[in-house]
Amino acid sequence: MNQQSTENPAVKSASDTASQDDYLVIENVRKLFDDFVAVDDVSLNIRKGEIFALLGASGCGKSTLLRMLAGFEKPSAGRIILDGQVLNNIAPYDQSVNMMFQSYALFPHMTVEQNVAFGPKQKNMPKAEVARRVEEMLALVQMESMAKRKPHQLSGGQQQRVALARAVATSPKLLLLDEPMAALDKKLRSQMQIELVNIVERLNVTCIMVTHDQEEAMTMAHRVAVMDAGKIRQIGTPDEIYEQPSCRYTAGFIGSVNMFEGKVDEDEKDYVTIRTPDLETPIYVGHGITGYDGMKAAFAIRPEKMHISKDEPEQKYNKVQGVIEEIAYFGSHSVYHVRLPSGVEVLCNFVNMRRWDSESYTWNDKVWLSWDDNAGVVLTS
Ligand SMILES: Nc1ncnc2c1ncn2[C@@H]1O[C@H](COP(=O)(O)OP(=O)(O)O)[C@@H](O)[C@H]1O
Ligand SMILES: [Mg+2]
Repeated sequence: MNQQSTENPAVKSASDTASQDDYLVIENVRKLFDDFVAVDDVSLNIRKGEIFALLGASGCGKSTLLRMLAGFEKPSAGRIILDGQVLNNIAPYDQSVNMMFQSYALFPHMTVEQNVAFGPKQKNMPKAEVARRVEEMLALVQMESMAKRKPHQLSGGQQQRVALARAVATSPKLLLLDEPMAALDKKLRSQMQIELVNIVERLNVTCIMVTHDQEEAMTMAHRVAVMDAGKIRQIGTPDEIYEQPSCRYTAGFIGSVNMFEGKVDEDEKDYVTIRTPDLETPIYVGHGITGYDGMKAAFAIRPEKMHISKDEPEQKYNKVQGVIEEIAYFGSHSVYHVRLPSGVEVLCNFVNMRRWDSESYTWNDKVWLSWDDNAGVVLTS
C-alpha cells in the first residue's frame, strides 16, 4: 500500500520550492452547522506553489473546509488569509480562488474552447487575450485538437482535462479540487493524477485538494493533512505521514499496520522495551521516547517491515513464531496473515521477486516473523 510514493517519483519533483511559507493562512477556523461542529479549530499555513491534500474519511469536514476557502461557506470563527488579504467576507466571485468541479460541471451546450473562455470573459479580459489564453490552456492540457467539440463528445479523462484548463484559465491564486478523480476509473485516475500535478506545478499555482483516497493524496500532494472529526491529526510529507505517524489514528488510517497495544517496560535513553499481551517477549525499540516506565503505548509496524522465515532468526529480540492462516496474492507481492499463539493476527508482506516464490510458504506453515530495532514506531497518543 506504500507503492504510490515510489512508483511515481517524478510527480513530486518541484516540492521544495517554498518561497512564501504563509501564502495561505488558515487561522483557528471553525464551522458550526447549528450546534454540530463540522470543522474544529483548524490552523494551517500553505506555501505558494504547494499542492496540499486534506485527507480523511467521509464526513470528517474536508469539503466544508474547502468550501470556506472558496467562499461558499462563512467560517463561524477564525480567519482565512490569502496572499495577505483576509477572505472571510469576500464573496466567491470576487475572490481569486477557483474550484474545479468534477467533469460533469462543464457547460454541456458549449464547446471545449467556449468552456475554457468562460472565466476569462467573465473577468472582462480583452477578446484577443481571451483567445490567446484559451489556446495556451488547451495546449497545456493537450486538447487543442478537440477545441470545437462538445463535452459529450469527450472521454472522461478528456473532460477532466478541460475542467482543469477552465479552472486555471483565469490564473487563480488558489486552485481547489474536491475529490477531483472520483469520476474516473482506476487506471485513468493514476494517469490523470500525474498529469494534473505536472500541469499545476508548471503553472506554479497553489493547490488544495480534498480526497478520501490515501493513494491519491500520497501520489499528488507535497504535504498531507490527515483529518478526523473536524480536526487535523497530523500534517506532513507523504513519507512522514506513512513512516512517522504521530498517533494511532494516522497510523491506522494510512496504509495497513500491525498495532501492538501495551506498556513501556524499560525506558532508557537510547532504547525502550514495550510489553504487550500479544507477544510473549517484550518488543525492543532502538531509540528513546519521551515517556516513562509503565506508560501506555502502542508499537506500530508496517507489514512490509516484517521479515518471514522458516528458520529461527539469530537476533535476540523482536521475533515470534506463528502459523500462516491466509495468503492474499497481489501479483507484485503477497500478504501473509500469520496467527500468533496469543491469538493475534499479524500481516507480513512478501515481494514476489521470482515467479514461483509465493510457493515457498503456504497455508498452515509454521513460520518466524522478525523485525529490526527501528522498523516500527512507538505511539503514545
Ligand atoms: N450545509 C450543511 N448543513 C448541516 N450539516 C452539514 C452541512 N454540510 C456538511 N455538513 C455536515 O458536516 C460534516 C462534514 O461534512 P463534509 O465537509 O462534507 O465532509 P467530507 O467532505 O469530509 O466528507 C458531515 O457530518 C456533514 O453531514
Ligand atoms: Mg466531501
